[in-house]
Amino acid sequence: MSLTGLFLILFLIVHLIGNFQLLYNDGGESFNLYSAFMTQNPLIKAISYGLYFFIILHSIQGVSVTLRNRKAKGNKYQVPNRKSSTWQSNNMMLLGLLIFAFLCIHMGDFWWKMKMGQYPMVAYEGHEGTVQDMFTRVDLAFDQWWIVLIYVIGMIALFFHLNHGFQSAFQSLGLNHNKYTPFIKFLGKAYSIIVPLGFVIIPIWMYFN
Ligand code: HEM
Repeated sequence: MSLTGLFLILFLIVHLIGNFQLLYNDGGESFNLYSAFMTQNPLIKAISYGLYFFIILHSIQGVSVTLRNRKAKGNKYQVPNRKSSTWQSNNMMLLGLLIFAFLCIHMGDFWWKMKMGQYPMVAYEGHEGTVQDMFTRVDLAFDQWWIVLIYVIGMIALFFHLNHGFQSAFQSLGLNHNKYTPFIKFLGKAYSIIVPLGFVIIPIWMYFN
């Protein structure tokens, strides 16, 4: 779970940096060219298949670990250990399922239609051939308040999930060290705020602009 989680953490940074191109004031040219590169480059294509596999694996592992833990604990521990557990650490499966539901909506809307070649093609000066106009689809989606709301809810769930998951991944891998653990905890807290916030700024910004 830790390894698949850490891979997904890395993916989110790359995805966020790429998505920031939606905010350029260039009619979507940078974002569309970037999207085309990401979907056509053979190495990135291969990594994408790994990504889909890891998302499914991480989700299955999460559900199975939680159910196994619940079964093992039974009703033995009537008084929960409040010091070492937080709301998010007790609800990682629920948060994960919310993120999974968000992903189904998100990928069904953007990714699936792109894979099916459902978007109009556009040509840009200085670039060979045509690329799919993903930008217009994203722009139209973020014109609707309820889609923006889905992203806000999804990113709140992502914040709580990462807030516990980031440092927990390092702990599960046994990477505990007096000197480095406080730094990893700090990095995890910073990451869990900055990344979901970055993702949520995009639909909100596009809605109001
Ligand atoms: C502002 C928020 C977001 C926007 C505008 C956005 C946009 C997009 C678009 C346009 C695609 C399809 C084209 C492409 O691969 O570039 C895509 C794919 C994808 N998105 Fe997002 N995304 C956002 C947030 C997220 C979040 C928070 C997650 C994960 C929790 C996520 C996970 C994915 C995945 C797994 C794919 C498929 C990637 C691939 O095929 O390699 N996205 N996103």
